[in-house]
Amino acid sequence: MEKDYIFDTSSDLGRHHMDCLENVLDGPTTRLLEAIGVRSGQRCLDLGAGGGSITRWLAERTGPTGKVVAVDIATDHLVEGPGIEVHRHDIVDGLPVDGPFDLIHARLVLVHLPQREKVFETLVNALAPGGWLVLGEFSGRPLKVVSAPTDEDRTLWERMMYLSHEVLGPTRGIDFDWAHKVQGRMEQAGLANVQAMEYSETTTGGGDGCLLHRNLNQQAEPLLLGLGATPTELSRYRDLMLDPRFRAWFYQFVCTAGQRPPH
Ligand SMILES: C[S@@+](CC[C@H](N)C(=O)[O-])C[C@H]1O[C@@H](n2cnc3c(N)ncnc32)[C@H](O)[C@@H]1O
Repeated sequence: MEKDYIFDTSSDLGRHHMDCLENVLDGPTTRLLEAIGVRSGQRCLDLGAGGGSITRWLAERTGPTGKVVAVDIATDHLVEGPGIEVHRHDIVDGLPVDGPFDLIHARLVLVHLPQREKVFETLVNALAPGGWLVLGEFSGRPLKVVSAPTDEDRTLWERMMYLSHEVLGPTRGIDFDWAHKVQGRMEQAGLANVQAMEYSETTTGGGDGCLLHRNLNQQAEPLLLGLGATPTELSRYRDLMLDPRFRAWFYQFVCTAGQRPPH
């Protein structure tokens, strides 16, 4: 069966993918986690933990008596250690360990999964009384170019964004509308103190955001070629992602938190 998640975190490109995400998103993510409060002794779940930066951040905050359970289908970059337990597991099959958890974090996981509603329910049901669910997702806001070396480069960027987000994504179950549905879903599920933030920055050729776009384009190459992209287009686009004369808005990151009522 074709797997749902397009990318391979275990690969070298996957490792670089995780590094780019951490560099761009750990700041806004930890600001929200700080705001809701993470304390020593808490039991946390980091779903789709990837490179493990948020797992390690949570372990520092919850130690020495707390525990972070890191779950991913690819655990090559996750290291067990004091307060960190790693499970190679597909969340679509349910949780690998029983809850409840004081905090569940999943960044850029549910957006990818066609079974997101089922996974969402699994996560809500695993919250301890007073426990927080924090979901970070990319929205489908158009990624506008700020400056490009030529008009052809602008057009090429728009074509790659169209193929990646409007053609390839939906056929593989990616739902960029989900990011802005999360608040409503949390409220329907009975979570309290629901709050969210949107974050985005511009990215310049050679910067982490452009390097991430380049990386995703490399990982998705066979799929993009199958959709009609040409090798020349892919090659020019990848050069553009290294060109400091190019700048565009990066993905809008929407991070939403909700709390199971304490009683
Ligand atoms: C886009 S990456 C995000 C990684 C990390 N959360 C971050 O933001 O830096 C998505 C991660 O979810 C994992 N993943 C995808 N499908 C999964 C599934 N069904 N169950 C568990 N993990 C999954 C992938 O292997 C990958 O490491």
